[in-house]
Amino acid sequence: MSEELAINGGPKTATEPFPNTSMAAGRDLGEEEIALVSEVIHSGKMFRYSGSMVEQFEQEYGEYLGIKHVQAVSSGTASLHTAVAALQLDPGDEIITTPVTDMGTYIGIVQCCCIPIFADLDRLTLNMNPEAIEQRITDRTRALLVVHLFGQPCRMDEIMDIARRHNLYVVEDCAQAHGATYDGQPVGTFGDIGCFSLQQSKQITAGDGGIVATNDDEFYVRMRDFHDKYYDRTGRTEERIVQRIGINYRMNEVTGAVALAQCRKLPSILERRRASADHLIRLLEQIEGINPPYMYPKTTGHSWWRFPFTIDEDLLGVDRPTFARAIAAEGMPFSTGYGGGTPMVATPCIANHVAYGDSEFPWEPPYGRDPQYDVNDYPGALWGQESIFTTGWTEGHTVEHAELIGEGIRKVAEYYRSRK
Ligand SMILES: Cc1ncc(COP(=O)(O)O)c(C=O)c1O
Repeated sequence: MSEELAINGGPKTATEPFPNTSMAAGRDLGEEEIALVSEVIHSGKMFRYSGSMVEQFEQEYGEYLGIKHVQAVSSGTASLHTAVAALQLDPGDEIITTPVTDMGTYIGIVQCCCIPIFADLDRLTLNMNPEAIEQRITDRTRALLVVHLFGQPCRMDEIMDIARRHNLYVVEDCAQAHGATYDGQPVGTFGDIGCFSLQQSKQITAGDGGIVATNDDEFYVRMRDFHDKYYDRTGRTEERIVQRIGINYRMNEVTGAVALAQCRKLPSILERRRASADHLIRLLEQIEGINPPYMYPKTTGHSWWRFPFTIDEDLLGVDRPTFARAIAAEGMPFSTGYGGGTPMVATPCIANHVAYGDSEFPWEPPYGRDPQYDVNDYPGALWGQESIFTTGWTEGHTVEHAELIGEGIRKVAEYYRSRK
């Protein structure tokens, strides 16, 4: 006889909240950060070009990633804007990206007067599907902006092959994927430029912050100059004779101090996230009707920003909304899909082409070809948004938390299966 569900008045599986990235229990923030911040304050040097914390962070993150140049910036959105700006594309040029992501993926594209074009996703991962990318390429396409969603790398070997064949730049949005690897190689090192976020919910955080990384000397100089009003602080030219419009996306020293301490902890943070997530996978594998997170064969290092799973409605004899309500009543903090469930492509500013005044620039002619976005063109994205249960994952999740989550899911699954 299966146990009575909490939704029917039975005992709740988890009575305490699970860790999340907005609580101390879900973060590894402490004395190391305090010591470096204190050093900055005592030095009196808050500006990155006066002090050395941001520079030290760039060096150590670059060593971690195994990449030549790292530029710290003020957010993940700033990193993506800086990366697209470095490509120096023309107004109306098209960049193929994902219909399911954070707004930060799109802002830099449109701020550079380029046009986002969307390719459908692999249903089980919500990562961009290489075949769908290739179908969207036209003579206006100049770049691919791929997002490693939830901490799992996209199929980068196939994506890089497409980029090479069509002569396209590749920018990787690794905002959710610090330390993730595909076929042994870290994300952010496959394409021309890798972009990372240090926002509160990410594997490492400074509250806000971002990173752009590249092996290309020219892209690096452009990104360094763009993020700093296109001032040239190298002494090569007159600093304030400015050749191109930039912006101020500089990281300050206090943020750099926290980022540096967090960077040093990244390997251990990932180890903890992986240990608990792997444990939960093993538990879910034993439950009939529950599908643990799908991993590409070449995913060598998931970095667990969110933990996803799906159910087999026929095997369990329950529909997804009912299952969702039942696990929520057990205290399981899962939601469906990403970002509220509606693909971001349907958000009004993108769907209605709203960026500059009353115009539809850059989407409308003469720059753009006025692309119309219809969510129904992305069945993989729609399926994933409706069907994948996800919960935020943290370094504060222990094997015991995984046990409790596994127990809640097992209880609900067995209850419905036994009543089929
Ligand atoms: C995939 C993705 N891209 C970009 C961003 C933007 O990063 P930030 O919030 O640091 O600007 C985020 C952050 O939520 C993200 O998850």
